[in-house]
Amino acid sequence: MMHNTKQMHSQTQKEERKNVPADKKVVETGSEEETVALGAGLAGLMKGGDVVALYGELGAGKTCWVRGLVMALSASAGVSSPTFTILNEYPGATPVYHFDFYRLRTTTELEEIGCEEYFYGDGICVLEWPDIAEPLLPKRHWKIFFEISSETTRRIVICPPENGGSACFWA
Ligand SMILES: Nc1ncnc2c1ncn2[C@@H]1O[C@H](COP(=O)(O)OP(=O)(O)OP(=O)(O)O)[C@@H](O)[C@H]1O
Ligand SMILES: [Mg+2]
Repeated sequence: MMHNTKQMHSQTQKEERKNVPADKKVVETGSEEETVALGAGLAGLMKGGDVVALYGELGAGKTCWVRGLVMALSASAGVSSPTFTILNEYPGATPVYHFDFYRLRTTTELEEIGCEEYFYGDGICVLEWPDIAEPLLPKRHWKIFFEISSETTRRIVICPPENGGSACFWA
């Protein structure tokens, strides 16, 4: 698999800054469908109350991954990007709250929206462009990094919550 070395390096640095645990899992998907399937598969490891921060540039595959998660957990027909609405809700036994903070600039804006009620609620929260939400997130949360490695491939680094006995996730 071909990688841009410079890109890989900066990605690694970004992961280090965010205290990525040693038991992270690295996956490379070769199509949009594989990224969707990864989201559906990970749904089985997640439970109500979990918060998932999805990092990665425009078009990196964050929304594709959420589509798979929602397919596995909710009867909802489809997932669209919540860019213009900030939040899309998908009801189910475990509801999914899909946030996209791309258009927001300050953490204060998030507090005004009442995001913390969701972050500390019973559903699964998935967050695109989560950086400004970091001060509000529960300490225990998943981090997933999406990187464009070629037009059709994505390098995806999955980091389970710290102190959550995460080794068992990959058993
Ligand atoms: N391996 C892959 N996994 C996921 N998407 C892929 C892959 N290869 C190509 N793509 C394409 O990349 C795009 C990913 O779009 P997506 O909306 O999921 O990105 P995003 O990370 O949510 O971006 P944004 O920050 O703009 O919301 C889609 O057009 C998809 O078809
Ligand atoms: Mg998106």
